[in-house]
Amino acid sequence: MNNLLKGKKGIIFGALNEHSIAWKVAEKAHEQGAEFVLTNAPIAMRMGEINNLAEKTNAQVIPADATSMDDLTNLVEKSMEILGGKLDFVLHSIGMSVNVRKGRHYTDQKYDFTEKGWDVSAVSFHKVMNVLYNKKAMNEWGSIVALTYMAAQRVFPDYNDMADNKAYLESIARSFGYFFGRDQKVRVNTISQSPTPTTAGSGVKGFDGFIAYADKMSPLGNATASDCADYTISLFSDLTKKVTLQNLFHDGGFSNMGVSDAVMDKFTEE
Ligand SMILES: NC(=O)c1ccc[n+]([C@@H]2O[C@H](COP(=O)([O-])OP(=O)(O)OC[C@H]3O[C@@H](n4cnc5c(N)ncnc54)[C@H](O)[C@@H]3O)[C@@H](O)[C@H]2O)c1
Repeated sequence: MNNLLKGKKGIIFGALNEHSIAWKVAEKAHEQGAEFVLTNAPIAMRMGEINNLAEKTNAQVIPADATSMDDLTNLVEKSMEILGGKLDFVLHSIGMSVNVRKGRHYTDQKYDFTEKGWDVSAVSFHKVMNVLYNKKAMNEWGSIVALTYMAAQRVFPDYNDMADNKAYLESIARSFGYFFGRDQKVRVNTISQSPTPTTAGSGVKGFDGFIAYADKMSPLGNATASDCADYTISLFSDLTKKVTLQNLFHDGGFSNMGVSDAVMDKFTEE
């Protein structure tokens, strides 16, 4: 299918390198005819890889720390100038836990690390929507998507405080989504994605075991970053106009499984 996003304009947060889910979304959004601005934290720009993506997708890059209201205001204002009007889609693809990075156990967090991770991973979504909503920067029937993980509902011990951040993020999607839907006819959803080998994903302790287990449990196998990008494009398109306030599992069926034959076999090996 072509041109699902023809004429649509947006902002894509979080493309760090070619493994990033946001990177794949940008490539596919471009393929489907969208125009957009790419953004990431100023510190992430230093690697410079985002410029290759910008060139490939005819996008401009505007640095913004997603925890800074000033940066976000500048980003939204400049994006509307560059794109020549209001926005149709926004992807929030941002996550970071300082406790995970510094190897602090869940039961022994450093709370200024906890607050920083919460601000970056969850409250930033509220801040992004605050700016979009108050500047009336979204077109009617626009679509806002954030990425999340099932540790918001179920225990995955090594996901650490990111589990709590994701629960908060999903709640913000519903709470802000209500006002965005009622007042501006904009939809807000989260996609709960399979474990995916990216910079953020691989930072989780025991990631290799985690991703292999999820793959064996899921009847369709894990969803890749590229699969996630396809699903995101469908949520940005006009084919999903009445989908809002949802946390949508995109995980090959993992979230509804109890046990699979493949996992059982591991426990019955002689
Ligand atoms: N990889 C997985 O297993 C997995 C599974 C489910 C959900 N997710 C979610 O998908 C999203 C994207 O992560 P990814 O896996 O593509 O990894 P990634 O490391 O490629 O992307 C994370 C991005 O967050 C950005 N970021 C960090 N701090 C920021 C700040 N202050 N301001 C702006 N941007 C900031 C980083 O620069 C990076 O681009 C995250 O929300 C992540 O939690 C990932």
